[in-house]
Amino acid sequence: MPTIVFASSKGGAGKTTAAVILASELARQGAAKGINIALIDADPNQHSAAWANKEGCPENIKLFENATEESILDAIDEAESNAGFVLVDLEGVASSAVIGAVSRADLVVIPCQPSQNDAKEAVKTIKTIQYSARVAGRTIPFAVLFTRLSAAIITKTGKHLAAEFDGAGIDLFECSLIDREAFKSVFSYGGTVNSLEGSNKREQESIKKASNNAKIFAEEIKRKLKNHIDQKKRAANG
Ligand SMILES: Nc1ncnc2c1ncn2[C@@H]1O[C@H](COP(=O)(O)OP(=O)(O)O)[C@@H](O)[C@H]1O
Ligand SMILES: [Mg+2]
Repeated sequence: MPTIVFASSKGGAGKTTAAVILASELARQGAAKGINIALIDADPNQHSAAWANKEGCPENIKLFENATEESILDAIDEAESNAGFVLVDLEGVASSAVIGAVSRADLVVIPCQPSQNDAKEAVKTIKTIQYSARVAGRTIPFAVLFTRLSAAIITKTGKHLAAEFDGAGIDLFECSLIDREAFKSVFSYGGTVNSLEGSNKREQESIKKASNNAKIFAEEIKRKLKNHIDQKKRAANG
C-alpha cells in the first residue's frame, strides 16, 4: 500500500540501486506472507526494469515498466491496490512525471553521496518535493539517504553535511548504503544480494555485510512510514 518514491535531480545519486535493494529486501520479507512489491520504473533509461526482467528477480516483485508522465499516476493507482509496498524509481530531472509521483508519495527517499555538491542537489530535490506538496495540498514526508559511503564510518564531510541537514530541519536516514560490489553485481547477474555467491571468504563476508545493510535500510524505511502514519493520526485527532 504505501508508496515510496526515489527522487534526486542528480543522475548517479543511487536512486535505482536503493530502489532495487529495498524492493529485494521487502520481497524477501513478504514472500512467506504472500505480499507483493510493486516496482515502477519511470526513468526512460529503464535500469530497474532491466534488472527486474533478468532471471532471479523475486517472483513477488511486480514490475511496471516504461511509466511516463501520462501513465505514472495510473500505474501508482493500480500498484497501490495490489501491492504491500509500491516503489517508484524516477529520472534525475524535475519532470511532470517526477512531480506527479512525488505528489502521491508516503515517503520520498533522496539518495545523496556525502559531498557538498551532492548535498546541493539534494536541496534542489527538496524544493521540487515542496512544490509537489503545494500542488497536492498536503505534507509529503521525505528523508535524505547517504549512499555509496566508502566505509561504515561517516567521513568528516559527511558529519558536516549531516549537521547542516539537521540544522535545516531536514530528516536524514540513520543508516546509509555502503559502496559495495554486491550492490553493483545484482545489475549484471540479476537476482538479489542474497542470491549472490562469493568465490572466496572475503567476497562472502562482503555479500553478508551488503545483505545486512539492506535489512537495516528496510527496517528504517518501515519505521519512518509508521512514524508518519502515527503523526497523521495524531494530527487528525487534534
Ligand atoms: N551503494 C552502492 N554500492 C556500489 N555501487 C553503487 C551504490 N549505489 C550506486 N552505485 C553505482 O553508482 C552508479 C549510479 O547508481 P544508480 O543507482 O544507477 O543511480 P541513479 O539511479 O540515481 O542514476 C551505478 O553504476 C551503481 O552501480
Ligand atoms: Mg536510475
